[in-house]
Amino acid sequence: MSDGGGSVRQRKKSSGDGTGSRPRKPKSTTSSGGSSSPSTAQQHQMWARIVLMVGIVAIVYFTTFRTREKKFATQREVLELRTQPLDCSRPYLEEISKFAGCIPNRCGRFVSDKIVSPAEAGILLDLARAGFELGQSSGGASILDLHSGALSKGTQFVNVYRLPEAKRLFTNQHINVYRHVKAKVQQAVADHFRLSVDALHLTHPTFFSRLTNATAKTIHDEYWHEHVDKETYSSFHFTTLLYLTDYGKDFTGGRFVFIDNEGKHNRTLVYIEPKRARVSGFTSGAENLHHVEQVTGGVRYAITISFTCDREMAMADPKFALDEEEEEEEKEAATENGGTREGRVREP
Ligand SMILES: *[C@@H]1O[C@H](CO)[C@@H](O)[C@H](O)[C@H]1NC(C)=O
Ligand SMILES: *[C@@H]1O[C@H](CO)[C@@H](O)[C@H](O)[C@H]1NC(C)=O
Repeated sequence: MSDGGGSVRQRKKSSGDGTGSRPRKPKSTTSSGGSSSPSTAQQHQMWARIVLMVGIVAIVYFTTFRTREKKFATQREVLELRTQPLDCSRPYLEEISKFAGCIPNRCGRFVSDKIVSPAEAGILLDLARAGFELGQSSGGASILDLHSGALSKGTQFVNVYRLPEAKRLFTNQHINVYRHVKAKVQQAVADHFRLSVDALHLTHPTFFSRLTNATAKTIHDEYWHEHVDKETYSSFHFTTLLYLTDYGKDFTGGRFVFIDNEGKHNRTLVYIEPKRARVSGFTSGAENLHHVEQVTGGVRYAITISFTCDREMAMADPKFALDEEEEEEEKEAATENGGTREGRVREP
């Protein structure tokens, strides 16, 4: 589009010169065959100009008024807290109203770089890298769900807790940091939306993701489609993301984008540039339509941590890497969970 704009501007300039001084005009006119009369050629030129002007106006209209872009959180910033309040979508508000103590004062979104420390994010990145050593999607999107044990492998999923190597990889430090980080993120959601922290429950799916530019092999690899979380997972009420790698350094592409539609012809794209230890949180209803851009290079690691107000959909923290006696029991529980699509519902 910028090429088109450039040539349009050039043409406009040269034709402007032409009207000022007649003798230079033929020089700038390259397409004239010479057989038509001057008045016809002038008419053609006039029409060409009108068409170009209309084109310019259309381009300006579409770029300025149709889709605007806004950076909500850039990679270079270190944000204490940035917020954007929104009206809740009606179905979201109606549904969440069933859960006492869980109704947000307003819907919206927030970003903070101060909830999780870079050191904690580093430990979780180590955990993610170790986990994905054991399995990866052959397409561009791999997941590791420490609750169900689901790990991408080729075009399928395996149960990571069935792999003997997993035992050595996941340490107590990993699990403690994972739990601690989850608790801090949960508190941040409660604070931001003015809820009691006890009203929020961790829910399925909560998982590590690893995104690359590899060509998608299955539908699970197509992470970039616009969607509303609550439509994908009806149990969701609040979605959070913790980024583990840096946009522009560790990977390119892969920004998180909210799509704000204000009527058919008025769209604003609101970008979050991932940054290590950055947390973003938002209400999971239609007020937060979003997608992730396709990664164009490098590897993007993040954790999706999901919360529900519905106690029946609550899920416990993962219990891997506990002491020896509990291990067998845990392995069985994990296997059981991995086998069901929904995961088992357990109270924390
Ligand atoms: C477009 O939407 C924005 C909010 O996203 C709003 O502030 C603005 O007034 C809207 N413009 C028009 C022309 O509707
Ligand atoms: C994919 O990313 C790698 C680096 O991670 C890069 O070398 C390669 O050119 C990228 N491929 C495409 C098709 O963009």
